[in-house]
Amino acid sequence: MTEMNLSRCPIGVFDSGLGGLTAFRELRRLLPNEDIIYFGDTGRVPYGTKSRETILNYAKQDVDFLLGQKVKMVIAACGTVSANVPEDFADSLPVPFTGVVQHTCAAAVKTTKTGHIGIIATPATIRSKAYETYIHRISPETRVTALHCSLFVPLVENGFIQSDNPVTRLVAEQYLAPFFGTDVDTLILGCTHYPLISEAVLSVLGREVPLVDSGGSCVGSVLDALAERDALAQPGRIRTEAYFCSARRADFTRVAQRFLGRSIDALTKEIDVEGY
Ligand code: DGL
Repeated sequence: MTEMNLSRCPIGVFDSGLGGLTAFRELRRLLPNEDIIYFGDTGRVPYGTKSRETILNYAKQDVDFLLGQKVKMVIAACGTVSANVPEDFADSLPVPFTGVVQHTCAAAVKTTKTGHIGIIATPATIRSKAYETYIHRISPETRVTALHCSLFVPLVENGFIQSDNPVTRLVAEQYLAPFFGTDVDTLILGCTHYPLISEAVLSVLGREVPLVDSGGSCVGSVLDALAERDALAQPGRIRTEAYFCSARRADFTRVAQRFLGRSIDALTKEIDVEGY
């Protein structure tokens, strides 16, 4: 692809479901001229309770689908994929690739004053220890308390995202209890689904802990990677968006609308990702 063509190609974003829309929204805010293709693997969500091998297989198919759409960059807007792909995963791809872990850790280390960071994420992410590894690479003395919150993803996928939803609050109270009374002063939302219920998380914590959102944190690096290749879209052009999911299209578009504040119904198609 020539540089001229690259600037006109879309950015590809994927997640196991709706969570990656948190990165999408930030991407849209920072890069208003870009075409973006979003894929949510709603047929196989959750990834966070699966084995590493299965997560890698899913991630490869998701990436292949996006490459087939001629994207100029791939963003794994999924903490679980980002934490479980090998560090050299990007080397095997023909376009730049970024996950969300490194940038999130850097942002959290900058934020903490007590030197005690909390992480909440899926079981597969917590098991990988990827967040701890990156935090300790930057700041070996930082203390980390990492907890999995398995039920948060199904809550989000089923639209239980209002902060006053009693089910969401009860679940959050159970998972977040180990943080009560600690000096954790920065909380990494290590799963891109979690910002959709961040109000419930904050209200259960009962104090103003800065939340570091894994989807939003990677967006600056996308800008840098594209600028380096002279692949940013030209200002003032008419941009496009396309959304794909692998099942439950109506549920996907309904919850997405609540989160994005606009309907994506006419822009969303259902695909069979197993064919990639
Ligand atoms: N949104 C994803 C993450 O950031 C995946 C959640 C899941 O599918 O379990 O981890």
